Parts: sequence; C-alpha cells; structure tokens
Amino acid sequence: MENEHISRREFIADTGKTVLAAALLAPLAGFGVQAMSQSIPVLVNPIVLDLNKPEYRALAAPGGAITVPNPGAPNKPIMVTRTDESTVAAFSVICPHLGCKVGLPQNGIISCPCHASTFDMTGKVTKGPAKTDLYRFDAVLDGSTVTIMQKKA
Ligand code: FES
Repeated sequence: MENEHISRREFIADTGKTVLAAALLAPLAGFGVQAMSQSIPVLVNPIVLDLNKPEYRALAAPGGAITVPNPGAPNKPIMVTRTDESTVAAFSVICPHLGCKVGLPQNGIISCPCHASTFDMTGKVTKGPAKTDLYRFDAVLDGSTVTIMQKKA
C-alpha cells in the first residue's frame, strides 16, 4: 500500500513544479493571444475600394461583406460591411475576447468561432463573452467608392 503521507518539503516541491508549469504553458492556452487582441490595429494610409471591381462587388448591396488586408497590420484583416443603402462599416476581424478571427456575417450576424461571441453588421458586440465591440475604423461610401481610414480620436 502506498504511503499517503507526504512531507512538507515534498508538498512544496510538487506545488512549485505545478505553478512553474502553469506559468510556462499559459501563453499556449490562449492568454498570450489575449494580449495580442488588446493592441489596436494600425491603418497607416487610407484604403480605397472601387465597388465596380469584382472582388468588392459584395458591397454593392446592403448585407454584403468582405475582408481586406490591413497593410499596417498584416495579421489583422479588416471586415467591410454594407450596412444599408448609403452606409458602410469597417472594423478589425480580431475578436476582443481572446483574439480569434471572426467570420463573415451570416444573416446579419458576425460570429466568433472560438467562444461564440456575436456582433452586428457594424461590429457592435451583441453576445459575449466578448465585452467590447470589434475595433472600428472610419468608413465612408461615396458613389461606388469606399474609403477606410484610421478612426479619429
Ligand atoms: S475569442 Fe472568445 S469569443 Fe472570440
């Protein structure tokens, strides 16, 4: 039969190993991703989209959405949505919860594949665990041109 008593020294040594392992593995468990998600995506220069081009045609009608690369932050693409006849919205695809990339909207709902947060077509959070909106950029629709800019402070 195994001895159920362990010495104080053994207990402290085992506990120390567990704490060290948790500290080393935390970034792999997603905590490091959270830190990334909290940084603000940078858009150095405006992005101009010509809606006459086939790759942007989804924005020609309300409800349409696309993603475009962000040259200032290559790992943080920008989603552009056509919110109604005269307006568009643009926001980062990086979920503010733990940094996963949200998908294109389905029936007007943008979902995060990791923990099921949802957002509306303007990037506003509608269901947690995310507590904040997707990071928004300024976006203007002028005729058949969409211009996306860094949000003014
Ligand atoms: S990363 Fe958790 S809900 Fe998006």
